[in-house]
Amino acid sequence: MCGIVGYIGHRKVTPIIVEGIKRLEYRGYDSSGLAIIDKNGELKIHKKLGKIIELERTLPAPSELEGTLGIAHTRWATHGKPTEVNAHPHTCCHGKIAVVHNGIIENYRNLRKKLESENHTIKSETDTEILVHLIEHFEHETKDLTAAVQQALKLVEGTYGIAVISSDHPRKIVAARKGSPLIFGIGRDEFFVTSDVSAIIIHTKRVIYLKDDEIVTIEPDHFEITTLDNKVVKAKISEVDWDVSSIEKGEFKHFMLKEIFEQPVSVENAFRGRLVSELSSVRLGGLNMTGEELRSIERLQIVACGTSWHAALIGKYIIENIARVPVEVEYASEYRYRNPIVPPHTPVFFISQSGETADTLAALYKAKAKGALAYGITNTIGSTIARESDGGVYIHAGAEIGVASTKAFTSQVTILTLLAVLLGRMRNLAPTFGAAFIKELQKIPQKIQQILDDNDKILEIAKTLVASKNALYLGRGVNFPVALEGALKLKEISYIHAEGYPAAEMKHGPIALIDENMPVVAIAPDDVIYDKIISNLQEVKARNGRIISIATEGDKRIIEHSENVIYIPKTMQTLQPLLSVIPLQLLAYHVANLRGLDVDQPRNLAKSVTVE
Ligand code: AGP
Repeated sequence: MCGIVGYIGHRKVTPIIVEGIKRLEYRGYDSSGLAIIDKNGELKIHKKLGKIIELERTLPAPSELEGTLGIAHTRWATHGKPTEVNAHPHTCCHGKIAVVHNGIIENYRNLRKKLESENHTIKSETDTEILVHLIEHFEHETKDLTAAVQQALKLVEGTYGIAVISSDHPRKIVAARKGSPLIFGIGRDEFFVTSDVSAIIIHTKRVIYLKDDEIVTIEPDHFEITTLDNKVVKAKISEVDWDVSSIEKGEFKHFMLKEIFEQPVSVENAFRGRLVSELSSVRLGGLNMTGEELRSIERLQIVACGTSWHAALIGKYIIENIARVPVEVEYASEYRYRNPIVPPHTPVFFISQSGETADTLAALYKAKAKGALAYGITNTIGSTIARESDGGVYIHAGAEIGVASTKAFTSQVTILTLLAVLLGRMRNLAPTFGAAFIKELQKIPQKIQQILDDNDKILEIAKTLVASKNALYLGRGVNFPVALEGALKLKEISYIHAEGYPAAEMKHGPIALIDENMPVVAIAPDDVIYDKIISNLQEVKARNGRIISIATEGDKRIIEHSENVIYIPKTMQTLQPLLSVIPLQLLAYHVANLRGLDVDQPRNLAKSVTVE
């Protein structure tokens, strides 16, 4: 999943598009490049391996890259290793056309053979370069850049968000999308294209979210949106409702730490306006479901990837526990190819922070093809999953830049607990529980702050993990998925191998891993299964495992079983995951930071996985 940016207007293009891709660097950061039409109408290309800082450091003098039209790209390699040749933009044989691309051209090998048989010289290992040669072929016939792009895309199978410029058409950008996000920005006498609004938010908040198979042709003073068959599209201009400060680090060293510390506010934003105290219940208007429809639900399916899947699993525990509605939780990448059974009256929920994850999107299309109603739980307004769903809930966590998801997770869990209470109150859940839940949920932001205030203590404990090679995370009940999430956070940013397990599963294998070198992080809040997890900790201690416990404040008994204890405030079991995950996020953050790693842009990862 790469990031692309394009600009056409009256200002110097290079600083605008470089700044733009820097804001998209969380999408992919192994190489980058740009192409501009300079003041002499020539196409100028500059590419560099590594982070965008390398591209910026090696850019020619501004006078050599002066123009008012250009495109840029930051890459997450899928086809062809990260090299300068494989970096984007890619150019055609005569070097007059340049393309940047986010997505995968699946039939590129066949197209490559055909193009090489027609004497096109393919320079890179990428799927993308095929596109620019196809466009060259049709531009030669049509002398029209838009028509050439339309013809070329008709031959392409796969996903794309692309932007194309040509020195033969020096006052034009042509951009198109299918499966990958692409947004058109309308400024004052200038226009932008981008994979994500964060790249252009400092310039404009007026955007058009392009749909699949739409193409925008942009010239200095006007634009036109058409389909691949050249039908004109009248598109709706949207206004982005957040500003650049939410994508600045402020006083924090990393976006991840900032986003961890934003959770008291983001959790409150998730439930704001959705609690109905007079009914001891909640309202999720975006679901577009009547009371009758909510009551007639016989089961749910929740489909997601990564951290969103962990939130889904917590949702299952809570919805089944308090609403007594059976829930199936599915990995999107399996669901889309598994021919899933979707019984009637089974709404299927798709959880995705970015709203653009390819596997989750494909699973959504799969469920809809089976006649199911699809509901999105997402953080990104205007995202494809949001637009393709029959209803849904925005989690309102604000922009999440750190690749390792934190505040989106707690907001997703908050929404799922609201859904559980809504479905429960539609059935046999007592109003007393509804009222108690609402009262306790409103205390959660302050309780999260209490844990954040212990950050320095958690940093000290993180120091005991820095040299570890492995770690085990244990939890029971609703805290088992929290253990999975804690392990994922450590894995993805510190590169320490970690696994989450239901604590009682240890005896069936993983306990063989326990010795004095194995840190074990145990989530052991004071609840109905407390005694059970204590005996699991005794099994670990008996084998010299080094235990870090997440325990309820005031619990003295846990100290004798733990090397270190991190206390969290007491709350009802349904809401525990919103507290127990916070220390795990901070532990992972500090370990990665102490190891001197790039916490916000971990190796091999990217924020939204728009290819499968
Ligand atoms: C989580 O920290 C990771 N970035 C990753 O597992 C992520 O949760 C997954 O790719 C799903 O992303 P989504 O929520 O945007 O669909």
